[in-house]
Formats: sequence, structure tokens, C-alpha cells
Amino acid sequence: MKGDRHAVLTVDGKQFKLPIQSPTIGPDTIDIRRLYGEAKCFTFDPGYTSTASCESKITYIDGEAGELLYRGYPVEQLAEHSSFLEVCYLLLYGELPSAKQLEDFECRVTNHTMVHDQMNYFFRGFRRDAHPMAIITGVMGAMSAFYHDSTDISDPKQREIASIRMIAKLPTIVAMAYKYSNGQPFIYPKNELNYAANFLRMCFKVPPQQYKVSPSVSKALDRIFILHADHEQNASTSTVRLAGSSGANPFACIAAGIACLWGPAHGGANEAALLMLREIGTVDRIPEFIKRAKDPNDSFRLMGFGHRVYKNFDPRASIMKQSADEILDEIGSENKPALLVARELERIALEDDYFRSRRLYPNVDFYSGIILDAIGFPTEMFTPIFALSRTVGWISQWKEMIADPAMRIGRPRQMYVGESHRRYVPVAERPG
Ligand code: SDX
Repeated sequence: MKGDRHAVLTVDGKQFKLPIQSPTIGPDTIDIRRLYGEAKCFTFDPGYTSTASCESKITYIDGEAGELLYRGYPVEQLAEHSSFLEVCYLLLYGELPSAKQLEDFECRVTNHTMVHDQMNYFFRGFRRDAHPMAIITGVMGAMSAFYHDSTDISDPKQREIASIRMIAKLPTIVAMAYKYSNGQPFIYPKNELNYAANFLRMCFKVPPQQYKVSPSVSKALDRIFILHADHEQNASTSTVRLAGSSGANPFACIAAGIACLWGPAHGGANEAALLMLREIGTVDRIPEFIKRAKDPNDSFRLMGFGHRVYKNFDPRASIMKQSADEILDEIGSENKPALLVARELERIALEDDYFRSRRLYPNVDFYSGIILDAIGFPTEMFTPIFALSRTVGWISQWKEMIADPAMRIGRPRQMYVGESHRRYVPVAERPG
């Protein structure tokens, strides 16, 4: 029977039966929870390439097929037909909302878009040239100091209000970080606008002038939010889960996720990818950078290329590539050279054996920066926008974990390769 399947591990002649569990879709898992207790040995998997850290019903990725599902729905269908707040509802509660449910959810989020006014003083403690990621990491962590009434993780009602607050306030906080960095006054949310339009207005409106949101730009940004919303147990989501497993309040957990996302190997790649495309500058310089990317002695990598899970096209990159075309045709931008370089770089790389043999394809970060730049965002705003989008994914995964009665604090072990026991030597007896 399927339920009785198990793997047999032999250690020094002794056999250990390890149950095999079957998922809805995807690879089977070998349950090794009893391994250390029975065999007194650890498994070793730095980078967790072969390790499932949890059960989840939220997002499924088939890296071989280049497939991404949110609660079973292909991301391509959601990007084409849904809205970011509808996707937020789907990720948080597991089903697409009815018209009434969606209206209620949008209303709840809209009514929490303002931040505590005292936060304005918190922002003023930063230097004007602080990276927006440094600011939003600090502000998110500080939110537990402003919203004490939603920090008790054992209370489902408080978990819910904290979730709504973070989804609603992240656009306001990210826009405030942008305004603060360019010396312009903060713009309050305008609740008759939709989520993406409100964010655009808070970023680009200045008091002396009216600001009219372009529907196509707002739609393109909403689609970018959808494409970044969740992605299984990536580094920042795993960080949120690990922080949450200690019982830390939700704001602290999401702040930890934001900090992790900042790394250039993760969410910081969208900023790095556009800067790389600009550094390449023209199509004729591509071979020089391809050569560097392939050189094992050169730390340079093609930013926006490669993925731990996708060994095929990242479906998000394909949608983003189409969106980049549409946006640049619509609003035009001096960024066309970057798009031309990106397309030619992708073509050349995908014909090169180094990339093909390692199954390196463009990922979500390869084209997103081109769109965000064309809309008018500076590169340092790209990762904050990724964080804004991913907050709903982090929260959904955190809620799933906290609600699991089997939840335990995450505490990996190690393979110790340092010094074994030795005696303390007084400084007077040490050589040298
Ligand atoms: C995101 O996990 C997620 O789901 C993340 C994310 C999400 O939505 O949350 O999808 C978002 O983080 C996307 C990834 C963004 N990062 C980048 O674009 C940075 C550039 N990419 C790489 O640094 C790398 O591809 C990673 C970090 C994304 C994946 O690294 P892995 O899986 O640890 O792969 P690896 O470093 O072991 O590389 C395998 C081989 C190596 O060559 P060899 O040692 O076999 O000779 O491929 C090479 C690497 O040198 N390689 C690259 C490369 N990526 C991998 N060579 C050149 N350019 C690259 N981009």
C-alpha cells in the first residue's frame, strides 16, 4: 500500500526504515525526523537543496517544467485575469473570493493604509541617503512598537489584524522611504484608488501638481505584485518561518524576511540585474560579460539568471518579458537599450553550452527592473517593491505555520569540523 512505503538506510550494518510520504503533486519525501534518535547521525544538506522544511498548501513550483501555482492556480492565469488583492485573499485564505468577500477584503485593507503619525518621526532618524531597504527593514521591525494590540500570535484575531495591517501599510511605508530619500514630503494614501494606483500616487505625486495614474502602468505594477507574491520556501520565506517558530511577533518576522530578501543572490538581484544591463550598455559588449560569467575565477554572475529550483524558464520571467515590451511601447523610455541588451543577452546565453548545461535561465529579476525603471522608480526602489509584493506570501506562510498544532521551534544541527577537546593555556605559557 502507498501508506506503507519506506526507505531503508543502512548505517554500519544496521538498517533503519524511514517512512516515505507522498505529496499532492511533486517529489515524495523521506521522513527523517526519527533518524538522529535511532541512528545517532544527522543528514547533511547545506543550502537545503534536497530538504523539505515543512508541509504547505500555499504554493507549488515544478522547477523542471517551469510551473508556478498559487493554491493550485497557474500564475499565468492569475497574472492575466486576477488582481493583486484578489491574489492576496487567495494566498491568505486558500480560495478565490466571492464578489462580496473580495469587496470586504479590499475595504479592510484600504482602511488600514495609513501609518501611525508618530512614525514620521521614526523616518526622520535616518540619513536621507539611507538605502530604502535599510529604512523599511527598520520601520517594519518598529511596527510592533506602534501596534501592540496585534502582536499576540496565540490570538487568531490579532494574527488577522496584523496581517491586514502589514499588507495595507507596506505600500505607504515603501512610498515614504522613497519620498524621504529624495527630500519630498510624504503623500498620504488616497483610498478611492486601487492598491497599485495608490502606491504610484504616494510615490510620484508632489503637492504643487495634480498626479493622474496611468491605468496601463497601474495594471503593469499590479501584475508585478502578483508575480512576486509568493514562492514556496525561498530564503526569505524560510527566514520568516524560522523567526516565527520562536514565537516572535509578526512584525519582527516580516522584518527578518525583508532583511534576507535584500541580498543580491535573492531579492536584491532585480536592482543588480538592471545595473548590470546598464554596465553592459550595448549589445556588442555582451560577449565580454558572458566570458566573465563563465570564468570560475571571476565572481561576476549574470544577475537575473539562474535559480535553485527552476531548471527551465521561470514562468514569471516570461510574463515579465512580455510586460516589458508593452510598457516600453506605451510610455517609451530611454531604457530601451537595456531591454535590447536583455533580450540579446538572453538569446546568446541560452545558446551557450555553459548556461544550457547548468540549466540557467532568466529568473523573475531579469526583466522586472526594466519595467520598474521605465515607470520611473530608481534602482534602489526595486527590492523594496519586491518586499511589498512578497509580504502577503511571507504572512500566508507564517500564518500556516503558526496555525499548525505540530509547530516546533526550528533548530537545525551541524557537522562540527572544529577543534576537539583541549586544555586552556595561560597567556604566559603561549608561544609567540
Ligand atoms: C530570487 O528561491 C527563490 O524562489 C528565490 C526567488 C523568489 O521568488 O523568492 O525566485 C527570487 O531570488 C531569484 C534569484 C535571483 N538571483 C539572481 O539572479 C543572482 C544570480 N543567480 C545566482 O547567484 C544563482 O543562480 C542563484 C543564487 C539564484 C542559485 O544558486 P544555486 O542554486 O546555489 O546555484 P549555484 O550557485 O550552485 O550554481 C550552479 C552553477 C555554478 O557553476 P559550477 O560551480 O557548476 O561551475 O551555475 C553557475 C554557478 O557558478 N551559476 C551561474 C549563475 N548562476 C549559477 N553562473 C553565471 N551566472 C549566474 N547567474
